[in-house]
Amino acid sequence: ATPIIIDCDPGHDDAIAILLAYAHRDVLDIRGITTVGGNQVLEKITDNALRILSFIEADIPVAKGAAGPLLGKLVTGEEAHGESGMDGPALPPSLVRPTDQGAVEFMLELIRSSDDKITLVPLAPLTNIALLLTAYPEVKDKIERISLMGGGISYGNVTSTAEFNIYVDPEAARIVYESGIPITMSGLDVTDKAAIFEDEIEELKRRGPVSVLVGELLDFYSIYGKKMGYVGNALHDPCAVAWLLHPELFQSRHLHVTVETEGKQTRGMTVADQRKKTEHAPNVEVLVDVDRTAFINLLFDSLARLDQQ
Ligand code: BDR
Ligand code: CA
Repeated sequence: ATPIIIDCDPGHDDAIAILLAYAHRDVLDIRGITTVGGNQVLEKITDNALRILSFIEADIPVAKGAAGPLLGKLVTGEEAHGESGMDGPALPPSLVRPTDQGAVEFMLELIRSSDDKITLVPLAPLTNIALLLTAYPEVKDKIERISLMGGGISYGNVTSTAEFNIYVDPEAARIVYESGIPITMSGLDVTDKAAIFEDEIEELKRRGPVSVLVGELLDFYSIYGKKMGYVGNALHDPCAVAWLLHPELFQSRHLHVTVETEGKQTRGMTVADQRKKTEHAPNVEVLVDVDRTAFINLLFDSLARLDQQ
């Protein structure tokens, strides 16, 4: 199995991404989960991560990371994710606590002690990953790839140019994009196409306990989507996991991408060089399309696996 670390801010779609990965333990070995301030403040989203893991009785260590971005104050996604950061279902509190180690030291130790290279799966602002790469650049050689959710090469969702995860910490994102580590980017171009529709959410709620939980998460998450004029609810973070499981469901382009940190209209924008001839060598595999039906089937089958356990 491919060893992975999921860095997240659950977050409705983060939670679904964790469930998707956990359903495929034969393929993806989740060595640890790290949390970072994003959709809600650090305490809340860490608690959400622990609750999700307790619900499925998954024994995966969770380490708390940065409370806010490298510079400035944290902007949360409360409008979309609610007061708890994962409003909707009533999940019992977790009996487990996070590790005493902070996320950066925790990742460092996991990466150093692993025989195989580790794949990082960041689903949130890139603060923890940037701190890790800056403090311990030598770990780059032991990171196989970064499959992240963030950005987009056409438009944004917080501003007209910036997507939430990049917008919250553009300086960190820039460090990661320019790290030289191979990156697969699930940005809005693909994640907006990975939408789940209302009848599908209703179907989930007629199934087993984990499917029902996801249905309830999506009931709440859809409220904001609808308010913002979307038809169907984008499953952003699960794309970064689904690509690791089934890359053949996606279409991609290899481009040079970096992050704008200064522009008045463009701070937090992922800037892709789409010229046919350019001096910039590609550093990112940008996912641009997905077989939606196959992706939703994968989600349903994966949740069904968890329902049966
Ligand atoms: C991203 O922002 C967060 O609100 C979601 O969890 C996802 O990671 C989508 O822009
Ligand atoms: Ca997220």
